[in-house]
Amino acid sequence: MSELIRLDRYVSECGVLSRKQAVPAIKAGRVTVDGEVVTVPGFKISEDAGVTLDGNELSYSRYSYYMLYKPAGCVSAVKDKLSDTVIGYLKDVKTTGLFPVGRLDKDTEGLLLITNDGQLCHDLISPGKHVEKTYYVVADISLPDNAADEFERGIDIGDDEICLPAVLKPSALIDGYEGHAYELTITEGRFHQIKRMFYRYGARVVYLKRLSVGGVKLDEALKPGEFRRLNEEELRLLGK
Ligand code: URA
Repeated sequence: MSELIRLDRYVSECGVLSRKQAVPAIKAGRVTVDGEVVTVPGFKISEDAGVTLDGNELSYSRYSYYMLYKPAGCVSAVKDKLSDTVIGYLKDVKTTGLFPVGRLDKDTEGLLLITNDGQLCHDLISPGKHVEKTYYVVADISLPDNAADEFERGIDIGDDEICLPAVLKPSALIDGYEGHAYELTITEGRFHQIKRMFYRYGARVVYLKRLSVGGVKLDEALKPGEFRRLNEEELRLLGK
């Protein structure tokens, strides 16, 4: 037996309208449920119902997938007593059940996926799955020439196990920063991993931004603090 949900929520969770836009659309008679026009936003329907908006069939998923351009200064948590959380940036979204996929440090920016799909979260953060995460890193000093080879072999950052192989490439320095820029791809997510990998060479990370996760790239149109739903192509890249 599938769950019953409000029609306005159903329509907004299909991703075509926000909850605020769904209410007037329903009241205006633009939505049908199993062939009948329904004008009551709170009308309860089954997840399996056939729903159309302006004659186009909607496809409902109980899971939601967002990308947030996480700004520096907020924590990768659902709730926090002291700091802003990443979930707080999802304005106009029903956030119950949503959580960030893994953690970025408070001072790290960039791509953070947010979902209520626990299986996807597990698949993306489990080190055994080897999902690539690429970061843009600015360090205060340059790494030695052999660092890329050592990263590729797996370096020791003081944990029980050495790091999985990582790919280090030099990159262009962005405006406003001084130091040495790199792109680094890792396939695990240990505590402060990148900062500790650089510190192994005495280098301090002064700026860290995640660019991609498992082939999904941070949308360059987003500004820090902005978010959007993942599109079909991005869901396909994540195996959804
Ligand atoms: N590595 C770090 O050191 N910090 C992050 O936020 C992510 C990866």
